[in-house]
Amino acid sequence: MLALPLKAVSIVPMGIGKGKLIVGNWKMNSSPAADSALLECFAKSSASFGTATVVVCPPFTAIAAASKILAGSPISIGAQNVHWEASGPFTGEISPSMLRDVGVDYVIVGHSERRSAFGENDAILSKKFYAAMASGITPILCLGESQSERENGLQSAVVERQLRAVIDPQKIEHFGNFAVAYEPVWAIGTGKSATAEEAQTMHRHLRSVLADIFGEKFAEDIRLLYGGSVSGSNAAELFAQKDIDGALVGGASRKADEFLAIVASGT
Ligand code: 13P
Repeated sequence: MLALPLKAVSIVPMGIGKGKLIVGNWKMNSSPAADSALLECFAKSSASFGTATVVVCPPFTAIAAASKILAGSPISIGAQNVHWEASGPFTGEISPSMLRDVGVDYVIVGHSERRSAFGENDAILSKKFYAAMASGITPILCLGESQSERENGLQSAVVERQLRAVIDPQKIEHFGNFAVAYEPVWAIGTGKSATAEEAQTMHRHLRSVLADIFGEKFAEDIRLLYGGSVSGSNAAELFAQKDIDGALVGGASRKADEFLAIVASGT
């Protein structure tokens, strides 16, 4: 796997100056009729997406149908989870190559709901992260502090620890690209977004940690998304921050008008 010298494989730049990356995480919400209405609306509007890259992440069962509807549109498909093995006796799991087969280009790794409700720890997340990249899927690594961690001023340390626990520069130099989503747990689904200033402060910190690991150039090319109560009314202010390269959107990604307003703020 690491046969090439460390600097021999170049990274495909996908970061600053290339438009925002806006990802809709549908979570466990899907029905065939609602999904197709939503996706057809997104596909119809996609001519106005400009430089924004738009990704929707349906539940596994809805991915194949979404791929069909979005075929020929610039909208990409993501998954919400992945297993790290290629195949075998892993009841209930889905492998990276199975996701590739149904048109998946991105996968969310380490969402706080998976960390807290499904016991996903750093070791598991690390395996998922590299397995996705090895299959040509861009992982979106989610990080974020809890309410009490923020109240105690621990947010920077917590999020830096989460990032360093998964990122291994040796592996990444060889596999390709990834994105990072800062999602403070207290902002998810609460209607209480981090302020643009709070988000920018954390993104700046994440960028400097990435620069410390990989150097400035690589760090500039990594897209840093903000997630947590992003809406049509706060997206523009968030996107105006220097180190906010896009958004990971939950609730608003199931509402056509809201999601399209967020995308419009990022074009
Ligand atoms: P909300 O946008 O509903 O707060 O959810 C954020 C999130 O968890 C996206 O992954």
